[in-house]
Amino acid sequence: MNYKETYARSMEDPEGFWAEAAEGIDWYRPWDRVLDASNKPFYHWFAGGELNTCYNALDRHVENGRAEQAALIYDSPVTDTRRSYSYLELRDAVARFAGALVAQGVGKGDRVIVYMPMIPEAVIAMLACARIGAIHSVVFGGFAAKELATRIDDAKPKVIVSASCGIEVSRVIEYKPLLDQAIEFSSHKPDKTIIVQRPQARAVLQPGRDLDWEQAIADVEPAACVPVAATDLLYILYTSGTTGEPKGVVRDNGGHAVALKWSMKNIYNVDPGDVYWAASDVGWVVGHSYIVYGPLLHGCTTVLFEGKPVGTPDPGAFWRVIAEHRVRVMFTAPTAFRAIKREDPDGIFLHQYDLARFEALFLAGERCDPDTLGWAESQLKVPVIDHWWQTETGWAIAANCLGIEQLPVNPGSPTVSVPGYDVQVLDDDGNQVAPSDIGRIMIKLPMPPGCLPTLWQNDRRFVESYLSAKEGYYLTGDAGFKDDKGYLWIMSRIDDIINVAGHRLSTGGMEEILSAHPDVAECAVIGAADQLKGELPVGLVVLKAGVDRNRDELLNELVALVREKIGPVASFKKVTVVERLPKTRSGKILRGTMKNIADGTEYRVPATIDDPVILDEISEALGRIGYGNKQDLG
Ligand code: COA
Ligand code: AMP
Repeated sequence: MNYKETYARSMEDPEGFWAEAAEGIDWYRPWDRVLDASNKPFYHWFAGGELNTCYNALDRHVENGRAEQAALIYDSPVTDTRRSYSYLELRDAVARFAGALVAQGVGKGDRVIVYMPMIPEAVIAMLACARIGAIHSVVFGGFAAKELATRIDDAKPKVIVSASCGIEVSRVIEYKPLLDQAIEFSSHKPDKTIIVQRPQARAVLQPGRDLDWEQAIADVEPAACVPVAATDLLYILYTSGTTGEPKGVVRDNGGHAVALKWSMKNIYNVDPGDVYWAASDVGWVVGHSYIVYGPLLHGCTTVLFEGKPVGTPDPGAFWRVIAEHRVRVMFTAPTAFRAIKREDPDGIFLHQYDLARFEALFLAGERCDPDTLGWAESQLKVPVIDHWWQTETGWAIAANCLGIEQLPVNPGSPTVSVPGYDVQVLDDDGNQVAPSDIGRIMIKLPMPPGCLPTLWQNDRRFVESYLSAKEGYYLTGDAGFKDDKGYLWIMSRIDDIINVAGHRLSTGGMEEILSAHPDVAECAVIGAADQLKGELPVGLVVLKAGVDRNRDELLNELVALVREKIGPVASFKKVTVVERLPKTRSGKILRGTMKNIADGTEYRVPATIDDPVILDEISEALGRIGYGNKQDLG
């Protein structure tokens, strides 16, 4: 079947389509209903079915002839380490750590937070939770203690698994003091923490609460896979919402396993036994779906890379990994390629490696600019596929599904809706717009398996945030259009989310932090275009009357505050003082206009602005920190 037929089938007979895909998964008990729609707008895939995600990711491959095949290759240029785990070795390590969790009282439905760098123990901890039916919540290492504390209070973990340190290029970042601080800030206290001691910086353990990983796994019985309901939760992954409070996106076991397994062949066109590499971090959804679960559910070898595209040690790092581990398909964010292109525009490093086995590059996480796409294509000489998705869906909404049919690439477009997703572009009144007209991108319910069934213990916020714009539709938060050939074009967000180096951040969250500074009367944070990271946050603050301090000192304080509260991942380094912020007559801050000024793009002075002169002041202030080149159309 070609793409058109496959897509049509997924729309006409979704239950038949996904029941067939579910044959790729081993079930302890078959489902009663493929799709339970009895409690709209909440939908549940494979209701009544029972499975174990870890069994499907590891044990069944051991039992079916893949015991000696590499399941995980850990490649860490920052510690000069390479280590390969066969399916058998990984299964045993996971069963052992699952036993350690059980020994600490963790059982089905309990939460475990994983706050770790890119080391095999992070993957082992995630799979160990899946094995015993516990719910993991991985927190990205670049978040500060306060963000971790928020997640601890929401998820209420019994155990937190962490490591003594992470390594950022050549800088050792101690994780344990951040963890200790987070536990101090949080109201909920975990019973235990389990800490991997890395030689680069050993952590001080608190007797009675903190266990050394090695000590935790000594003398425990390996734990067996526990059958869970398809609708039981596998994980919570917090992502930026429109306020400082992150949203706990949850994932079920059944739909997730079915969708990810299906995507490996149909979207990425890899087969069991192939090496698949997602250069992301286990703290992001890409890491969950395509470092850990997708490749392992499909019997592939996955690569866990503890390094960066540049600087570890050079811009040839990605090519080395592809060549050395015989990678067939790679997935990363466009920003990584912009970083490589900047340091090695002519691909001199690339030509040092044999990439004969490499077949396709997939990019996602932010809009892929045609320049980057074109450069990657010309250097690699393989298809470069932009695909669009989000934490909430867990896998691609739009893509060029290489395993079904390779469609022509249109640079700047992530191609077409993936089978299972009824993507529509609607105006503010909920009507479909004409082809090529911009509108809000929505997905008609039900979404396919694998997408979030709700938010962690917050059905109300789930409905309010995603399902209230139009009954029967999911609001993606992205704006864009569908052209007359059905290609989707994702242009911008309709909320305050920005994408910094492929990392999703809320400018609203940063504004909350700046506003809390005693000298700040009001502020705005905008996402200004950046050649490397796609977008960078830029702050504009109005000081309280009478504040007469050294400006540089104050601005440095604000930068440090965001780093302390959100973490280095926010990349908040640019902030300037303005006399006033531009507003509409009803008091709404004109962030979009300020972004246009910062980016030097054309804009019209909004008719509703209360005082247009302010825009000149803003332009001048942004100019002082290296932004803007106003093109006022009057
Ligand atoms: N633990 C602690 N700190 C971390 C961290 C972690 N896991 N990850 C990032 N940071 C820090 C960085 O060291 C940096 O600190 P600095 O401000 O002191 O320099 C800061 O957070 C910002 O990180 P980042 O935005 O990643 O910038 P960078 O300059 O270190 O690297 C890229 C830029 C483009 C090379 C890098 O972002 C990259 O490879 N991105 C693409 C791949 C990817 O992970 N995409 C995610 C979704 S697919
Ligand atoms: P995250 O949840 O961190 O994966 O971020 C999801 C958001 O990133 C989406 O809602 C989009 O705004 C943006 N995004 C992800 N992939 C793409 C893409 N291929 N093109 C354009 N925007 C993208």
